[in-house]
Amino acid sequence: MLVLRKIKEIEELISLKKQKGQTIGFVPTMGALHQGHISLINYSKQQTDITVCSIFVNPTQFNNASDLTHYPRTPEADIKLLEEAGCDILYMPEVKDVYPENDTRKFDFGYLDTILEGAKRPGHFNGVGQVVSILLEGVKPHKAFCGSKDYQQVMVVKSLVKQLNLEVEIIACPILREADGLAMSSRNVRLNEQERLEAAAIPEMMKLGNQILKLYGIAEAKKYISSVVATIPNMKLEYYEVCDAETLELLSEFNPKQKQFH
Ligand code: PAJ
Repeated sequence: MLVLRKIKEIEELISLKKQKGQTIGFVPTMGALHQGHISLINYSKQQTDITVCSIFVNPTQFNNASDLTHYPRTPEADIKLLEEAGCDILYMPEVKDVYPENDTRKFDFGYLDTILEGAKRPGHFNGVGQVVSILLEGVKPHKAFCGSKDYQQVMVVKSLVKQLNLEVEIIACPILREADGLAMSSRNVRLNEQERLEAAAIPEMMKLGNQILKLYGIAEAKKYISSVVATIPNMKLEYYEVCDAETLELLSEFNPKQKQFH
């Protein structure tokens, strides 16, 4: 695997590969890689000739300074995992290579940015838009692979691609989970033993919440989730919402015919 630090080097190499008729797949990440990330590498390898991964902890998408400082960084283990997975090129830049100057661009993601993570983490999706646009314009992949764990982020990235007229197909890939059902996440390593045990209740309550939703509707499902969370010592509920899976519109009435995301 080739490890490159400069966007110029990536641009030159990719253009050579494209001249040879090879297709490019891209997996943007912030590192501290786990099997969820590696599953995206595998999808890219199945669908394209050359797989590029980026590892960059993007400062502009953190609206909380302490979250940025404590974000796990494991570059050596990441390189090993990517090599084992057969990734072809790793782009691992410094902040000044990605942002030679302050990025002051403001994207308009409309309604998408006013709900859920958009509402709870002001500026977060704008930062994601900034870094993803720079990465996509540098790597110029045919396909980019994103995880449905960050469902709202996939929708934001699709909107960005449309707004900037980028020629890339965004592929949403399934969520990879730990044996107890918790979605794999780089931040899981920040949980202590007790918190990690408690976190396993999340997929369980979501499953049961889903049944209650279908039988009794959204209000009852919300009540159920709040009541379970209240019994778990280290857990606080930020939000539980049921949305239209196509538009992310927040729903108050359950319609079994509508595809939903919660
Ligand atoms: P990061 O959290 O490192 O995630 C990189 C990609 O891996 C995202 O598309 C995310 O949805 C996917 N992913 C994470 N956990 C997953 C899991 N358990 N199963 C499947 N896919 C999973 O998301 C980001 O980085 C950043 O916001 C980024 C898009 C790189 C922009 O900085």
